Amino acid sequence: MKTIIKNVDNLLTNNDSYTQAVDLLTKGEVVAFPTETVYGLGAIATNEEAVAKIFEAKGRPQDNPLIVHIGSKEEMMAFTQDIPKLAEVCMDAFWPGPLTLILPLRPNTLAKNVTAGLQTVGVRMPEHKVALELLKQLKQPVAAPSANKSGKPSPTKAVHVHHDLEGKIPLILDGGTTGIGLESTVIEFVNDLPTILRPGGVTKEMLEKVIGQVGEAQPTDEKEAPRAPGMKYAHYAPDSPVYLIEASLVKLKEAVEKIHNEQKKVAIIASESFRHINVDYFFSLGKEDQLSDAAHLLYQALRDCDETDADIILVPVLSKAGVGTAIMNRLEKAADGRWFYS
Ligand code: TXA
Ligand code: MG
Repeated sequence: MKTIIKNVDNLLTNNDSYTQAVDLLTKGEVVAFPTETVYGLGAIATNEEAVAKIFEAKGRPQDNPLIVHIGSKEEMMAFTQDIPKLAEVCMDAFWPGPLTLILPLRPNTLAKNVTAGLQTVGVRMPEHKVALELLKQLKQPVAAPSANKSGKPSPTKAVHVHHDLEGKIPLILDGGTTGIGLESTVIEFVNDLPTILRPGGVTKEMLEKVIGQVGEAQPTDEKEAPRAPGMKYAHYAPDSPVYLIEASLVKLKEAVEKIHNEQKKVAIIASESFRHINVDYFFSLGKEDQLSDAAHLLYQALRDCDETDADIILVPVLSKAGVGTAIMNRLEKAADGRWFYS
């Protein structure tokens, strides 16, 4: 299959790109498209065969459910039920935007493989003109995980999608680099206490201002089955191992020296304040206190490491304030629990 990339930066002159995307989706094909978080790989959420193509193209485990994207709240009524009051409040406050709500599924409405057999469904309305225009023209809910090969960092550019899925999907709508750069916050409303299953662009503080106390699922608790099935997989990982390290110039210099003594090459992903360390490769996360820049740059930096011959990737830890929670969540997964101690 040939994968076509269509530029849709300018909405007005690219209407035929949308027509092509809508036609492909309606025919039961998959299409990649930009959102404000990362690129998604979409299929119509009621078409089981089409949804199966998403899992196949990504190499995604079947037990990991997909997020359903909607262009209007009305569309959601067809496949959800008994929506909790606090979920309504969140929709009004944060949609369109990077917040996925886990809601009770109305039985026998969506394709079974969208929800992996769960009685709940993840729903979000993206805040991106291309995604919204596509959903508006299609008038149907679209199941879409991030458009990366399973286990790799999510794509923040059309070229990332092309790199991972070339030959496996027919069309990528190219809307430029995504804004936030990390996936949406996933929040569950199944118990009394709304609980964040995956931190993202909408922070705990932002949610608590609107709905009061919010819990956080502990992804590291192995005794309990993970509540967001996706959280149990190693994720966001470049080819070489990632190690977290204390954010200190002295520690980092020691670590680099030790690795060099073993005749190995090292890449560092860090804020500008670490740039002058004598290292084989340096990928910047922007200014030290600009966490939103770090979120925006992180997945590109992890992918850049794969273009080098670095044997090991060091990442000094970032603050967990605000969106830092989401950044560190992804980095802890990328590192799979590894820390560098010199
Ligand atoms: O920003 C995003 O959310 C992007 C863009 C494309 O919208 N999508 C995305 O999808 O990140 P994906 O499939 O990579 O991540 C979805 C996460 C997974 O961890 C999955 O397990 C969880 O949401 N999830 C989906 N449905 C769920 C459900 N019913 N209950 C619990 N977790 C669910
Ligand atoms: Mg993903």
